[in-house]
Amino acid sequence: MTGAPVQPQITVLDAGGQYCHLIARKVRESGVYAEVRPSNTAAEELKGRRGLIISGGPSSVYEPGSPSVDRGIFDLGVPVLGICYGHQLMAHLLGGLVERGEKGEYGLAILEHREQDALLAGLPERHQVWMSHRDTVAVMPPGFRLLASTATCRVAAMGDPARRFYGVQFHPEVVHTLFGRQILENFLFAICGCRKDWNPRGRVAELEAAIRRAAGERNVFFFVSGGVDSAVAFTLCLRALGPRRVRGFYVDTGLMREGETQFVRELFERLAPGSVEIVEAAPRFLGSLNGVCDPERKRQIIGDEFLRIQQEILESGHFLEGDWILGQGTIYPDTIESGGSGQAAVIKTHHNRAPGVQRLLEAGSVIEPLSSFYKDEVREIGRELGLPEELLERHPFPGPGLAIRCLCAETEGTLEQHSEGWIAPLRSVGVQGDSRSYRAVLILDEQPGPEIQATAAELVNRLARINRVVARVAGRAPLGELRVRPAALSPERLGRLRRADAVVRELSRRSGFDRQVWQFPVILIPLGEAERADSVVLRPVDSVDGMTARAVLMDRALLEEMAAALLEIEGISSVFYDLTHKPPGTIEWE
Ligand code: XMP
Repeated sequence: MTGAPVQPQITVLDAGGQYCHLIARKVRESGVYAEVRPSNTAAEELKGRRGLIISGGPSSVYEPGSPSVDRGIFDLGVPVLGICYGHQLMAHLLGGLVERGEKGEYGLAILEHREQDALLAGLPERHQVWMSHRDTVAVMPPGFRLLASTATCRVAAMGDPARRFYGVQFHPEVVHTLFGRQILENFLFAICGCRKDWNPRGRVAELEAAIRRAAGERNVFFFVSGGVDSAVAFTLCLRALGPRRVRGFYVDTGLMREGETQFVRELFERLAPGSVEIVEAAPRFLGSLNGVCDPERKRQIIGDEFLRIQQEILESGHFLEGDWILGQGTIYPDTIESGGSGQAAVIKTHHNRAPGVQRLLEAGSVIEPLSSFYKDEVREIGRELGLPEELLERHPFPGPGLAIRCLCAETEGTLEQHSEGWIAPLRSVGVQGDSRSYRAVLILDEQPGPEIQATAAELVNRLARINRVVARVAGRAPLGELRVRPAALSPERLGRLRRADAVVRELSRRSGFDRQVWQFPVILIPLGEAERADSVVLRPVDSVDGMTARAVLMDRALLEEMAAALLEIEGISSVFYDLTHKPPGTIEWE
């Protein structure tokens, strides 16, 4: 059960851009169900849509292997809107000319209308838009008219009203484009003739009916995590099938945050007493992770261990004899980032798509009631189910838990001084040009602030060895004296990280900072002095769906309070602040 709840009226063709999900979400916010598909989806499969949107992308249409679309989409008789790269791709494919830009245009611009048209109807003649592009459309394809320009980009909006083809160089889906919503709605309603068919509210009855249809006579077992997605999916199944047909297991991997097991126990006891069983498995996970440093190996080991425990539970609980299927809280973007939609390269594997689960999926033995929804839509469904806000407003937390926030090291190393700062012999994962990097970290011995954040962005672009920049907020010893020491994923280090994470969580909750960020990972790195061998990195980010993220700065007083409290923890030497946006850094370090 992974199909769309309704027939999509709009398909966003993903040309590799980080913005395609944002476009689909904005369309849904306007009440129209939209899906995301790979850009090269055959036109044949897109019949019946009321409109198509080609997303932005990182490439130039002239780069070999750059994303394209099936030219047949232009013969379907449906409106097409190209955004940014999609705008250039339309110009390129329909007989216009795209010119390679040297520098590009990034940031705010003023759009000036040149001609009245349905796309920009009802808007002021001049308004602010957000641009992010290098190439530009130099010559429009035959049949297109110039609709609007900015000071540096002549063809900022073009349209062929007869064929209902439109292109905009700016991004209507981001908030900085002041009338972005209205432009998208003009496209959806005036041009495509969409009707409102989407509201995540009021879908509970329908979702329950779908679960009953998909499950048939079979029962459902779940592995719940304490996160929003699995709790909402589990609750839906409980309501659809009744508590006797739904069983939940919470595997305590020993990689969870402080107080987590207690939270989960209380949450599910309130929902349906006895529905969730807690499985203690910490020694097993820690045993198999012993001595492992590589992030993807860690994920693999955790995923495999999970599957083994799952298998054991299945066998001992006789779930294989009766008719049981696996329920999961997979949401829409999870099905995409692991390479699900084609263009997005695999950055990190997500373990609800581990090979064992994949086999179950292929056998039709998995139920994923939330697989068409975005996170904020899942929260809406959760609210309707009456789940507590404390759960719904939780920040996302990765399945592999603290394991991927506890960096390990095999060998010793010292910091290397450069004119820009210090390079640490520690590697973290990044995403550059839509593919994965695993590189060193640059440390600046300065307090975090807007200026050094701008410098940091410039440094990551310039220094090929690094993909991340941190600022040192506080420390017990001079930076140059810190060393990396061999360190494993020991219970002692995990305990240290758990404490640091709890301290940060408590202070962000008390100050309200947690509501200003989307997620706030705390990372332990094996960098310090002899007695205090580890340090902590603060990684607060703002994001829409985790695909891109902005490193968020924090009030000075709060940061000082946090750093002082962290330095009180046994074994912690310094506190660092991650200044890196995603891209080029990922949100997690591993
Ligand atoms: P990155 O680090 O890739 O993270 O920028 C994007 C979002 O995904 C979460 N994440 C994971 N979630 N299993 C998960 O369930 C994983 O292996 C995993 N890796 C990253 C991360 O916390 C962030 O919200």
